[in-house]
Parts: sequence; structure tokens; C-alpha cells
Amino acid sequence: MPESRPTTGRPQRIAKLAAANRALRARRWARLLAPGFILVLTAGCAGPQSTFEAAGREAAGVEALFWVMLAGAVVIWLLVIGLSVYATRANPAAHSEATGIRLIIWGGAVVPTIVLAALLVWGLTMMPDLRREADGPKIAVSGERFWWRIAYGIEGEPGVAKSLPAGGVESANELWLPVGRRSEILLGSPDVIHSFWVPAIAGKTDAIPGRVNRLVLEPTREGVYNGVCAEFCGDAHAQMGFRVVVVSEADYTRYVEAQGQPAAVTEGEGPDRFVERGCGACHTVRGTPAYGAVGPDLTHIASRQTVGAGLLETTPANIAAFIRSPAHLKPGAEMPAFAMLPDAEVTAIANWLGALR
Ligand code: CUA
Repeated sequence: MPESRPTTGRPQRIAKLAAANRALRARRWARLLAPGFILVLTAGCAGPQSTFEAAGREAAGVEALFWVMLAGAVVIWLLVIGLSVYATRANPAAHSEATGIRLIIWGGAVVPTIVLAALLVWGLTMMPDLRREADGPKIAVSGERFWWRIAYGIEGEPGVAKSLPAGGVESANELWLPVGRRSEILLGSPDVIHSFWVPAIAGKTDAIPGRVNRLVLEPTREGVYNGVCAEFCGDAHAQMGFRVVVVSEADYTRYVEAQGQPAAVTEGEGPDRFVERGCGACHTVRGTPAYGAVGPDLTHIASRQTVGAGLLETTPANIAAFIRSPAHLKPGAEMPAFAMLPDAEVTAIANWLGALR
């Protein structure tokens, strides 16, 4: 059959040239934009919530494992792509069938088995070190909708019937840890499954109703890190954050002691309105008649960096905004709105809470 040759008149040549120009321009743009694109992609790789800036023993191990695996994956990818390119260009007659079979046996079975076995052995050898016994404080953490109940200095084992922390000094949404010590975190939940995760320090562990899960955290660097809930638990799941403050052992002891004290101010317009309006049915402020156990303990709320579980900076204005309409700031928040309270009362309560360091 005679081959139909493409017409090569002037209009076709111009169209071809124009297409080549367009392709060249596209390649230039791609070269220009690629670094920016990579920058955008890697912008999330740093900061207080990054697994790439490990500040804990376990996170450092996971990070090392990741980089080795990535390097291995890149080498294998380059080899496979190289072989594919070679295969499209090689002369089939130049290879014997035996060579092909050898390639399949070595490249498809022997090398992957060796590489995967080596990675498995290395991963397993990390485990005993990561599972070493705790030698630091025991802290109970309970995932609630949608915040974290934290109790330091708990006596014995916490119960699991309701919220997990039993006894001890209660706080919320800000976990302090001594640097270089292996603190034991006892995790529970009274409602649904949450997952406790501080990416910079260790892997995640679920907080499951009806049982106590253990997680040992060994921070290696002082600083403030972000933690999140990593298991979908309801409307405000994405706003169930917390802060982890890693300090020296002496500072940790001082902090727990200070948290154990009653509130700095227990009399006046703020505490009076707080109790009178029923806030104490859900919240505790030690030193006042407010002893509710449903919501976060507010005895030292102003010492925490955030209100609303990592949501807003702790200021009287933000506390007032949260009192007026929690669900507006945090959809799904269980606390009812108190927008009906006169402004002066909300301000008095918020100013008082905002000073409880
Ligand atoms: Cu708690 Cu998601």
C-alpha cells in the first residue's frame, strides 16, 4: 500500500513552527515555576508541627527511617526508569533469553528481597530502644470533644469509666514535659476515638473509650511544639489541637507545682458572675465554688498559650468571644453560647479568667 505522505506546504510548516514555539515557551515556564512549586510543597516541612524537625527520640528514628527509605526508593526508581528507556532503544537481537531470565531473577526477586529484608531488620532493631520503660513523670491525657484533658502527678492507674485523669493536677490543651526524660502518657477518652499526635516528638497513639493506651514521649530539645488530634472525631476534629512545652526538669517541677495552686483571684465581679451564671456546672476554678468536671479546668487558663484547644491566643477579648459564641469560632464545640449575658458580665468574667495565670 502506498504510504500517504503528510503535505508539507507553507501553512503546515508555519503551524508546525508555531507548535514548536509553544512547546518551548511551556518548557521555559515549567523551568521557571518548578523551584517555586517545590518551595510551596516543602514549605510545610518545617515548623513546630513537622516530622522533619525531630525534637524527640522516636521522631528522630522515624525521620532517619524515612530518609533512608526515600533514598532507596529514588535509586530503585532511577534504575527502573533507566532500564525502561534502555529497553525501548536496545536491539532485541543483541540479548539472549538467558540474559533476560537472569535480569528477572536478580532484579525482580533477589535484589528486592535483600533490600526489603535489610530495611525490615533495621526497622525492627529500632523497636527495643523506642519501647524502653519510662523514667519520667506519668501524665494522664484524655481526648474529649474537642479538647484535651491533662492531669499531672496522678496517683496509681487512672480509671477508664469516665474521663481518664483520676486525681492529680488538672489542666487542658497544654502539655508540659521535661526534656531528656521518658514521660509516660496514659491515653483515654470518655466519648469517641481520638488520636494523640505530636509529630515533632513521636508517632501517634489512639485515645479509645474504655481502655488506657500508653505512649512514652522522650523530647530531646526544649521548645514549644504543636500537637493535633489525628482521628476524625466530629465537627471540630480539625480544631482539636494542643501545645507541648518542653522545658528543663526543674522548670517542669515548678510548673506542676504552680498548676496545683488554687486560682490567683477568687473574689470579685468576675468570679461572682461566673458562679452565678452557672459556668461552674461544667468548669472548675479551684478556690471558688466552681467544681464542674465536664469542660476544661480553668484555674490557670491564662498560663496557657491558647483558648479553644489551639484555636486562639489567650487574651480576655478572645475568651469573651468564645463565651459569647463558641460554635461560631469552633463549629461543633459542645459548650453552649452565652450571647444572652449582658456585655458587662461577659467582660468581667473574661477579664478575670484572662488574669488567672
Ligand atoms: Cu479528636 Cu479528632
